[in-house]
Formats: sequence, structure tokens, C-alpha cells
Amino acid sequence: MDAPRSILRGPEPSLRVTDLHRQLLDRLLGAVAALGATPEQAAAAVRLDLPKNRDHGDVAFGAFQLAKLLGQAPPALAAAVAGALPPDDLLESATSAGPFVNFRFRRAALARAVLTAIQAQAAPYGPSPATGQTVCIDFSSPNIAKPFHIGHMRSTVIGNALCRIHRHLGNSVQGINHLGDWGMPFAKMMTAYMRWGNETELHRSPMRYMFDLYKRYGQEVKQNPALDDEAAKHFQALESGADNAERRMWQLLRDESLQAFQGPYSRLGVTFDHITGESFFEDKMEAAMARVTATGVLERSEGAEVVWLKEQGIKEPCILRKSDGTTLYHTRDLAAVFHREATFHPHRILYVVGAEQKLHFDQLKAVLQKMREPIAAAVEHVPFGLVLSKTEDGKWEKFASRAGNAVFLDEILDEAVAKVRSIIREKNPDLPNADQVAEQVGVSAIVFNDLKNSRIKDVKFDWDSMLNFDGETGPYVQYACARLGSILRKVDLPVPAADQVDLGALADAERVLLVMLDFGTAVQRAAEQSEPSHVTAHTIALAGEIHSYLRDHYVVGAEPAVRDARLVLVDAARRLLVTGLRLLGIEAPERM
Ligand code: ARG
Repeated sequence: MDAPRSILRGPEPSLRVTDLHRQLLDRLLGAVAALGATPEQAAAAVRLDLPKNRDHGDVAFGAFQLAKLLGQAPPALAAAVAGALPPDDLLESATSAGPFVNFRFRRAALARAVLTAIQAQAAPYGPSPATGQTVCIDFSSPNIAKPFHIGHMRSTVIGNALCRIHRHLGNSVQGINHLGDWGMPFAKMMTAYMRWGNETELHRSPMRYMFDLYKRYGQEVKQNPALDDEAAKHFQALESGADNAERRMWQLLRDESLQAFQGPYSRLGVTFDHITGESFFEDKMEAAMARVTATGVLERSEGAEVVWLKEQGIKEPCILRKSDGTTLYHTRDLAAVFHREATFHPHRILYVVGAEQKLHFDQLKAVLQKMREPIAAAVEHVPFGLVLSKTEDGKWEKFASRAGNAVFLDEILDEAVAKVRSIIREKNPDLPNADQVAEQVGVSAIVFNDLKNSRIKDVKFDWDSMLNFDGETGPYVQYACARLGSILRKVDLPVPAADQVDLGALADAERVLLVMLDFGTAVQRAAEQSEPSHVTAHTIALAGEIHSYLRDHYVVGAEPAVRDARLVLVDAARRLLVTGLRLLGIEAPERM
């Protein structure tokens, strides 16, 4: 499905766009008013879009809606609007094509608007002023008593990008790690540790060690099913809230895991505003259950307490309490929604969780709808596809690592970094800070690969294509930044202010400038659709355009007026690439 292409609507823009768009919109509103549209009609029907084909114009206006309100034929209205907008210092042309009006900005105006704004770090290139919108982003959220799954890596990377993108847009973001630190899986881990565990081993390598315990439990329980009863008893003891051995064990395993995650989290540039795992909701579930009961939607079914969702089109009921009285994953998520609502008053709550949990979140939202809770509207599952790896015979299948399902995030990152280190050793043996660069580039390769396509698609995990410096990869975009940086160093002059140079010299840089113009739209769409790939695509497009521009335009050695204008362009491209990468959670090395 095509994304909505509108970039600006009515006198109150729905997007933070450039001055250029705003000025054009003013002219357009003036023109339609002169043609008889009331301010209300204009507000409802005047919007700027990206033209289907950029060769037709930089921006377009589709006249359908306004024509309907005015009782005119769209092509006739489009022609009249185009006729009412003669060329001026902003507009080179306004031409109608059927029901559309296509606008072309004067190249000097385009260059000035884009480059001054980038230099000034003005929105949409730099951070926007606060919007008053609050977005909760629930991401990463591994189960600490079960293996870290490659899906958790995707959630971590996508969620991190969404946090950064929303912050850039001036939204207030609450990044939340809804750690799986409660329930039976945790009780089993505790049982395994109490029977076979050893603190020295645990400290040495917590994730691996817990993974070994997890496997051992799985094997032993086949011979000895009573282990599960033991686990259930430990869980009861834990849930009792008493200060007992179970509570201390829980604290130990949780602390160790969190500390172990901290390494990869900081390598990925990930931070959380709250680490409120499932355990945090332990004492908040009764109030949540009471709230469900009060709305009359809770029913008994075979001893369990459930909410039927047939009217919502979901066959499976949402079970909130099992017949043995215990609570579930859903119960904690429900308590979490209420907690977030009361604490943050969010406009959106995004759950960055694999597509396989679709039913879970559909049910959660449907329960809230059935309860007529307005917060239901804020609940948005942000699903994503699988990670695939190549089998021996070259087929793609669900990611498998040497440890089976488990992924040791640190080891994946280490492997990427080691590979980059050896590429550097081969290609650029004298590079200063080679280890630091290898870290930045290796991590970026993995992150970028994850964010490159729309999130719902499966990700192919393939070292060769991730690390291809000429492909659509993190290293490619980072390399573009480094190349621009090296040009700036060679020229070794302060970059002049954009309004101080002869921008006419950039008449042939229009493709670069048009991509730059689109940055704000890309970021906005990424936020609206929870789709960081719009930003990834923008960085690839900009890197590509500036590379091809620099193929036939040199900066060093050009005559001073031209050099100065190109210097401004190169510097702006670098700033914008660095900003785009930063929104994805990627750093750009100075040299590589
Ligand atoms: N811990 C869960 C899992 O690994 C993901 C939690 C997602 N967040 C949530 N609020 N349910 O499957």
C-alpha cells in the first residue's frame, strides 16, 4: 500500500515543513481565495503533495477536493489556479496537468531556503520545538529468564530509532523496557539456579550461564516433571511478597541480566527512560482487574476469568486470570496500560514487538475498547518481520545461531566489528582510531540492515551484503559522511553562511537540494507510520546524490565563488547525513 503522500494540509500544517512550503502555501491560499473559495473550504481542501513524478515539479496540489466543494471540474480549477500564480522570486512555474497543479521552485530560492535552514539547525533539519505530544515506546523488552531472541534485537533497534525520531520532532518520549522478569518462565530459571547454580559462574558470563541453565531445566524436566511443581512453589513464594530466598534470587538474576544487557545497549546507543518489567505490575494487577470487573465485561469460563471479544471480531477470549488464580502476560499488559495512562497521559503507546504477537495486542486493544476506555485508541502494535539467515545450501530460513534460538547480542556485534576491523586492515592500514571506527561501522552495518526495508518485511542477515561499502548499507552512508568531511578538511576554510555565497553556482545541484528538501517529510512519515525505513531511505538517497554530484563537480581547486557555494552544499549534506544516521542510532566516524 502506498503511504499517504500529503506533506502539508491547510493553513495549519500537519507537518513541520520548510519555509519554502509555507510560502508556497500562502500564495496558493491567496490564489484559491481569489477564485472564490472561502477560508473554510481552503482549509479543508488545500494541501501540498509530492508529485507522482519529480520531473513534473517539486511539489503538487491536487484540485479534486476543492473542485468538488466549489462545484467545478478539477482540471478547469487546476488550470485557473496555475493561471493565478505567475512566476516570482519563489516560483519558477506553476503548470496544470489534468487535475493537478505542479510547482517548481526557483533554484536559487530552493538552495537558499534549504541550506540556510540546515546551517541554522532549524526544523525540520534540526530538532523541532516541543509539540506537547507524548509517545510511550515499549521496546526491546527481553525475557530475562529465557534466551535473548534475535527478534529482541530488532525490537531494540527499531524502538531506539523511533525514540530518536519522535524526540527530534519535539514529542515527549517515554522509552520503556517492559522486561519479562516475572511469571513461570522466571520461576523455572530460579528453580534451575537453586538446584544447580553457582554465583561465580553466573558472574562470569550471566547470559550464557542462564542460557545453559535454561537448557538444562528443559532437559531434566522431561525425566522429572515434578520440577515444574517445584517451580510453581517458588513462584508462589515469590508472589507472596515476603523477603525470602526467592525474592533475593529474583533480585540477583534480574540485576545480573540487566547489567549484562547494558553492554550491548550502550554499544547500540540505546537508553530507556523506564525499566519497568512485568514484575513492576505485580501489585497493580488487582486494581486493573477491579476496573475490568466494574465495566461488567469480565466473565467466567471454565474457572478462568476472561473477556470475550467476539463482537470485536476476535474468536479467542482474553484470559486475565487462570483457574488456579494466577495472572498472565495479558493481565500485566493491561495493568501497564492503566499505569502509563495515569503517569504519562500518552497520545500514543507503541509496542515494538514481533508480528507473532499480533493476537496478543489485538486482544489487549479490544478489551480496552469493550471497556470503553478512551486509552484504547492510543494502543498501537508496531509489528516487524523475522530475521532470516542463509543455510548451507543457500536457502533463507528463520535465523539460527550456533546456540540455536539464543542470541548473544554482544557476540553478534563483536563479529561485525571484527569483520570491519579486518576490512580496514586491508584497505586503510594507517587509519587512526581504527578500533573505534571498526566499532562504529560494524554496529552501523547491523542496525542499518535492520532498518533498511519496511519493518514488516523479513530481514536477511548476511554479512557480505551488510558490510558492502558500495551497497545500500550503513558503511556506505558513513563513508559518504567521511568523504564529505575529508573534502571540508582539504579546503580548510570556514564554511561561509549560505546567504553570503552566490547560490546561482548550485544551479546544477538541484537533485541534491531536492533530496534535502524531503528530509522533514521523511522524518515525519517515519514517526506517523512507525517506519524508520523512511529515514534510512533518505540517507541512502542523499548519499547517492551527493556522490554523483561530486563525480563531476570538484570543490578543491574550483574558482572561489563556486568553491564557496559548493562548500556550503557539501557541509550541509554532511550535517544532514549525520543527523539522519543519528536518528537511526548510528554514529558517523570522521574518517574511515
Ligand atoms: N517480553 C516479551 C517477549 O519477549 C515482549 C514484551 C513486549 N511488551 C509488552 N508490553 N508486552 O515476548
